[in-house]
Amino acid sequence: MSQGFGNEDTIYQDVDVLEADVGKYKPSELPEREDELDKLHMALRPVTMDGSPRDVLVYGPTGQGKTAGVQLKADQLQEWADENDHQLEVVHIPCKGADKSYHVLTRLVKELREIRKGQGVDEPSGYQRKQLFEMVLDELETIGGTVIIILDEIDAIGEDDYVLYELSRANPDPVKIGLIGITNDLQFRNNLDADVRSSLGQREITFNPYNSNHLKNILARRAVQALRDTYFEDGHEDFTHLQSDVLNGGTIPLAASMAAQETGDARQAIELLSYACDLADDEGIGTVAERHVRAAKEEIEKEALIDTIGAETTQRKIALLTVVSAELNDSIGETTNLHRLYLDLCGYIDTNTLKQHTFREKLNDLAHSNILAKDRHGRGRGQGMSNTYSLAGDVDPQSILDTLEDDSRVGDIVDIVRS
Ligand SMILES: Nc1ncnc2c1ncn2[C@@H]1O[C@H](COP(=O)(O)OP(=O)(O)OP(=O)(O)O)[C@@H](O)[C@H]1O
Ligand SMILES: [Mg+2]
Repeated sequence: MSQGFGNEDTIYQDVDVLEADVGKYKPSELPEREDELDKLHMALRPVTMDGSPRDVLVYGPTGQGKTAGVQLKADQLQEWADENDHQLEVVHIPCKGADKSYHVLTRLVKELREIRKGQGVDEPSGYQRKQLFEMVLDELETIGGTVIIILDEIDAIGEDDYVLYELSRANPDPVKIGLIGITNDLQFRNNLDADVRSSLGQREITFNPYNSNHLKNILARRAVQALRDTYFEDGHEDFTHLQSDVLNGGTIPLAASMAAQETGDARQAIELLSYACDLADDEGIGTVAERHVRAAKEEIEKEALIDTIGAETTQRKIALLTVVSAELNDSIGETTNLHRLYLDLCGYIDTNTLKQHTFREKLNDLAHSNILAKDRHGRGRGQGMSNTYSLAGDVDPQSILDTLEDDSRVGDIVDIVRS
């Protein structure tokens, strides 16, 4: 029988603090980002002098505190504005999934309208982007005062930087606008229109990757708030002063060094610690150890893989299933064999079939995403080269079948491979 809820002992005192999603938990300080926050501060400070905030472009790889840092500074400015009766609005537009300036503009119109009308305004539809931009200006003029527009993950718009171009040049009366673009895509930053770069890029703030010491301190502060019997000695808020009855000494260093070795991503470090704590809490043993961090890493990687596979195209999914099938039947995943199997499997569903060389490209794509491993070897004297494909080391055939069994296009093939 599974246990009931509510009577388990727990290591947590505030479980939400270990949420890595900035929408769920906002850190109240980011001491590792003092310099970057100072620069943001400088860009926003003119507001307190009745001037216009400077436009900024915030750049840095994923999980470096860009969103958290910009939100923190914007909140601080809002606090100042509230205390000083300054009319200030901050709109935060997550641009993920907005693959054109058009989509950013519709989101922006909605958010700006909601300032006056409250939640629940629909996004406008059926307009041209120029009309949408006029609507943005109208809204801004009506709101007045100072409006800070944060365009987060703005690289989503790709080459269509119309919205940045127009917004960075706009000067509607009587409102003062500050534009903060955030991106983790170096290519996007480099490709920006020269005019946009010269206005946005003038104040560019770079968030460089955290090292493992930074990550240890970030994790230690989260742990102190999230876990019971965990505190800092003598008020020093760093890892070397951390005391805990719940965390084994090596837990935080391991999570930090795993994340530092990859990309220095604080989100990844927090997710590792959080997952490890969940695993330990679930075991009910009251302490989190290094083995929990290792298990967490494995689980997270498995889940990420499942997401990647789920998002593949139908043809790549079928190609993957041929390799799974070959592996389950102990046959060799050589391109010609796999292609024969592929034609066979395609017969069970309604799909077009690819010629061998295009099919091989799909296999290569999967190898490129580290889902497959590719081995290239000679067929024997004068016979040319041949490729064999197998599942990459950490990829489990059953979890692929589980992931794809409910897929509307390839689900029937999964049944055939299983049988
Ligand atoms: N210096 C820090 N102190 C405390 N928490 C931090 C710090 N830096 C980042 N974090 C936390 O790490 C997580 C990731 O940060 P954030 O979402 O701001 O990253 P990002 O740079 O915006 O990444 P992305 O480019 O993927 O959007 C968040 O939970 C955030 O609170
Ligand atoms: Mg972000």
